[in-house]
Amino acid sequence: MGRIRILSDQVANQIAAGEVVDRPASVAKELLENALDAGATRIRVEVEAGGRKLIRISDDGHGMNRDDALLAFERHATSKLRSADDLLSIATLGFRGEALPSIASVARVTLDTATGEEPSGTSLEIAGGKILRVDDAALPRGTTIAVADLFFNTPARRKFLRAESTELAHVTALVTHYALVHPEKHFELISATHTLVSAPPVTRTAERIYQIFGKDTLAQLLPVAAEIPFDRVGLPEPPPWKKDPDETPRKPGKLRLSGFYSKPELQKLNRNSIYIFVNKRLIRDRLLLHAITEAYRNVIPPTSFPVVLLFLEMQPEEVDVNVHPAKTEVRFRQQSFIHDFVRDSIRTALINARPAAGFLAALDNAPLASPSLMPPATSPLPGAPGPTIPDSESPILDPSDAASFRLTPRPPTPASGRLAFTESAAGNGVSPLVEAAISLLAPAAGLSHGCAASDTPIADPSKFAEFADTVFHNSIETAAVEAEQAASNLNHLRALRPLGQLRESFILATGEDGLWIIDQHVAHERILFEKILHDRQVERVQRQRLLMPLLVELKPAQMVIFAQIAEELERNGFEVEPFGPQTLAVKAAPVGLEGAELERALGEIIDQASADPDERASAEALIPLRSRIAASIACHSAIKVNTPLDPARMEWLLLELSKTEHPTSCPHGRPIALLYSWKDIQRAFHRI
Ligand SMILES: Nc1ncnc2c1ncn2[C@@H]1O[C@H](COP(=O)(O)OP(=O)(O)OP(=O)(O)O)[C@@H](O)[C@H]1O
Ligand SMILES: [Mg+2]
Repeated sequence: MGRIRILSDQVANQIAAGEVVDRPASVAKELLENALDAGATRIRVEVEAGGRKLIRISDDGHGMNRDDALLAFERHATSKLRSADDLLSIATLGFRGEALPSIASVARVTLDTATGEEPSGTSLEIAGGKILRVDDAALPRGTTIAVADLFFNTPARRKFLRAESTELAHVTALVTHYALVHPEKHFELISATHTLVSAPPVTRTAERIYQIFGKDTLAQLLPVAAEIPFDRVGLPEPPPWKKDPDETPRKPGKLRLSGFYSKPELQKLNRNSIYIFVNKRLIRDRLLLHAITEAYRNVIPPTSFPVVLLFLEMQPEEVDVNVHPAKTEVRFRQQSFIHDFVRDSIRTALINARPAAGFLAALDNAPLASPSLMPPATSPLPGAPGPTIPDSESPILDPSDAASFRLTPRPPTPASGRLAFTESAAGNGVSPLVEAAISLLAPAAGLSHGCAASDTPIADPSKFAEFADTVFHNSIETAAVEAEQAASNLNHLRALRPLGQLRESFILATGEDGLWIIDQHVAHERILFEKILHDRQVERVQRQRLLMPLLVELKPAQMVIFAQIAEELERNGFEVEPFGPQTLAVKAAPVGLEGAELERALGEIIDQASADPDERASAEALIPLRSRIAASIACHSAIKVNTPLDPARMEWLLLELSKTEHPTSCPHGRPIALLYSWKDIQRAFHRI
């Protein structure tokens, strides 16, 4: 008895329809998802000519019997769905019964499959939708599908295919995604004769990240895990007398979150390094992207984005996956609950971890984040307001995005240079193609040894095979655990001993971990920022009266903006009145803000407020305004560079900084304290 049934029209019509196959990567995606749905533990992907010529995926899943093998190529034939009700709780990656017929209509497909339960397996060939051959064949359990000559019968679509290297990078990115979410499975990607991904099973995601991205990236990521019962929220229960006695109460279960997020020092110019998986499905979701950006607000600059691998698990009833033909978007039943939980979990994890930025890592990362290199869709101007709901830029590769990036401030390291390392380069065990895929995904600072989007992604893949051996057979687990534990933490700040200042601008201090260098201005800025926000929250802002009102000239447009934000300014300690048509008289100001700095801060606040008129519309939108005002006041009242500090003042600064929520970075996202670790110092002096 086969598993597959043809869906009734009534069910088929309820499925989000659209083009399923538009490029080699989408074929690979569908076949990979089928293999995973079939319970495979080992998946091998082979491609030729970037997948145009051939994509072959072999799995050791449950396979199909002869009837199913034939039925699988009918439209709306699926084993994963029966009735319209099943659409409300989809637990598989596929559910439409559309992928195989769509692929078979535009390519030459060979299917070899066996269940391991029947005496023989089935081998069939189908081209342009027509079955050419069906045979019995002796095969091991599992399925191999080979898709050759994609779009051979639709030349117009063939023309639109991109360069082989681009397509290959997309397929690589795809295999990488699925490998990340299934560390317990064995993934291989082979192009011609080169192994591009080889990820044998491991027990933990950290080890998988190590296998794929290398030690350096893993060292910049921190783990997060949290869960919450769904039943604290949702629709109100009907009173007992109104409940249907036969109805089984809905048990919404728990929302589980796990994954990795980057230390503030690792920053990207776009959202492409944010991977979100819901029930092991890679999705793009504006809401969750927004939650993640919110978690990093005032920790990294508004123009930068973190690297996040987020795995959410929930009952299938809580999420509708039938909203997009490519199955890459979902709709949550309890949207804002999930949004807030994601934001708060990451933010809390950041606050608790208080990761210290390494001096060398900071040197490596910062210069690449040049805003002028950003594509228009994701490039708010420097100093522009904090992130708003992001556009639907896809974390799944979009070649046009990649093309619009030209991030080449750092010359690419030649592959051979990296490959020359054996032991200590284990962490850099990324094939040039995986690098190309990563650079498409993350074309900005830092991730995976700072590889920038490159025009020539394939740099001698043949070297990779030999290298892969060294990498993957190194003690993966030990390295992964080490990298995770290595994170120094800013709680040590309070125990530091200040030695003095460097050019009256940076405090030098020593502690158990090594030598710390603290930027006195941004340290004070962070302390003041959090204090101002807190005082504003509890309505206890401290203001000081000026002996003489300070007169500030504004342009007419600025006067309009001033009128709109006057109330919020007053709540932050300003007492300002119009004094003539284009002049303001400042009578009182937040404590610590004086003279020219007061005038500058006011101008800055007004200018920033004018940058996004929409944000001022609602009461909730006051939050970013509030934090922008706090950031301006803090910046202009903080101790300046080139200011001598006595030891007591330095100690006070370190102690107060250690008490802040985010001692890692100033409200504009610059690092505050950098650690030159004891290990690095010993290494530099050749003592280890
Ligand atoms: N690798 C595989 N191993 C076992 N069965 C498979 C495999 N690939 C496909 N099938 C069977 O063929 C059916 C049709 O596959 P197809 O991908 O066309 O549809 P689907 O996965 O059900 O839905 P979707 O169109 O959303 O992917 C599947 O429901 C499954 O039963
Ligand atoms: Mg499928």
